[in-house]
Amino acid sequence: MKNRDIQAAWKYHDGTKHSYWSIRSNPHFLDWANRPQPFKIYPNVEPLSLPRDLPQTGMAALSALSASVPSASSDSIPDLQDLARILYFSAGITKQRVYPGGEIYFRAAACTGALYEIELYVVSSDLPGVDAGVYHFNPADVSLRLLRKGDFRGNLAQATAREPAVAAAPVTIICTGTYWRNAWKYQARTYRHFGWDNGTLLANMLAVSAASGLGAEIVLGFVDTEVNRLLDLDTGREVSLCLVPIGHRPENPLPTPTEVPALGLETIPVSQHEVEYPVMLEMHDASSLQSEEEVAQWRGKQPVLASPAPAKAEVPLQRLPQEAQPKDTIEQVILRRGSTRVFDKTASIALARLSTILTCATRGLPADFLQPPGTQLNDLYLIVHSVEGLEPGAYFFRRERDNLELLKEGTFRAEAHHLGLEQQLPADACVDIFFLADLSRILERYGNRGYRAVQMEAGAIGGRMYLATYAQRLGATGLTFFDDDVTNFFSPHAKGKSAIFLLAIGKPLRGAH
Ligand SMILES: Cc1cc2nc3c(=O)[nH]c(=O)nc-3n(C[C@H](O)[C@H](O)[C@H](O)COP(=O)(O)O)c2cc1C
Repeated sequence: MKNRDIQAAWKYHDGTKHSYWSIRSNPHFLDWANRPQPFKIYPNVEPLSLPRDLPQTGMAALSALSASVPSASSDSIPDLQDLARILYFSAGITKQRVYPGGEIYFRAAACTGALYEIELYVVSSDLPGVDAGVYHFNPADVSLRLLRKGDFRGNLAQATAREPAVAAAPVTIICTGTYWRNAWKYQARTYRHFGWDNGTLLANMLAVSAASGLGAEIVLGFVDTEVNRLLDLDTGREVSLCLVPIGHRPENPLPTPTEVPALGLETIPVSQHEVEYPVMLEMHDASSLQSEEEVAQWRGKQPVLASPAPAKAEVPLQRLPQEAQPKDTIEQVILRRGSTRVFDKTASIALARLSTILTCATRGLPADFLQPPGTQLNDLYLIVHSVEGLEPGAYFFRRERDNLELLKEGTFRAEAHHLGLEQQLPADACVDIFFLADLSRILERYGNRGYRAVQMEAGAIGGRMYLATYAQRLGATGLTFFDDDVTNFFSPHAKGKSAIFLLAIGKPLRGAH
């Protein structure tokens, strides 16, 4: 089993680290004439327009982020409007801006470089307003395109070794990643970005599903070739990353899996020419699961135990009083969200606001790889610059105790500037949240696929943080970082851990774009 040979994940991770020197010794220039298309287009398949005028769920964003999954004993079956809402508020176009290089269509979830390499497909049974089939979602014209007619959920149940949520779901959304669309700018780091950018989108998808009264879960355990074949992907260019079963039908007769012939549908090329980065294809292959038995075994193992760490001075998190909780709906917050481009470095935020962001985002993701529920792979470390109620310094978020532990006191704006790839944003924010993970333990437990899991989990928690931040009318941006310098900064506490993700939070400078 290739997945057990974890040197592959280490090779990819170590080989794609950023450092002060790697950035200078490998400068990369963007070839604007070869800029990738932001949409996958099937020119010969008729679009089925989705409704655009959707009734609001009315659920406050913070409630949607922490809503519990509806009971598995009752029916929750999405209709066409639910499906349209979930797809649009996960991957739809929310803003459009003209730049010297052309027009950019910004989407519902944050994405590295606004390159939008994550595509969505739908595998549905007969639903109110939707015929059973395999569809591709195109955000450009807000429509579905039918790729295969009929009910193929039996194929997904088989590919996931009858994962319970997939087996009971009336519809499952599949997220894929298109290498070149992101690698045009980020080269071999794109495989990390698959997890990050899929994760931010998943945060929206889970919240909007919950607000629609529909359970949803992230499923990472599946036989890759079976799912890729169902979608007829050209796997040198595009691969399946995760499945999201939506809704629940307790009595759910599944059709028997059927053979799926190649479709040979024409698609518009992403660019005039593409550059292949073999390390990413190797990483994907090495983290692929090859049989149902392997999937079942992968899912059934023991959880990763949290790394023991000594407790230091602790500051308990504070709750925003009920009357101070923002009431804007999840849809309003998603439409308002947009990464902050300049922070007001004279601003500060209250500890209660930061606490709300941390608790909403880390309440436990519904995911097949996080068992028992509530388990988390990433640890959160903070550089606090200006949070009322906290001394400036470096902190560790001890999730199970709901508190922040002071690791070292001091003003670290210059260090944050360096760690965040010498960008101004992390220096001017009120707080920077770094995600670090004990990769050795994670790879030991999950094999190479643990690498996919830890990156995707970080993106999803980061995506929830974006939403909890914008719900409170604050600003945030994802950032990239100098890997080993991050670990060193938080050591000895973080010794042996790897840097995975970074999000800066603060107040946007008024008038800045
Ligand atoms: C994981 C992640 C990393 C990012 N890294 C950076 C960064 O290093 N510098 C930056 O200015 N923006 C960064 N961004 C912000 C993106 O450029 C932004 O999400 C994208 O342009 C889409 O715009 P929007 O978030 O306003 O919708 C990052 C976003 C994400 C999700």
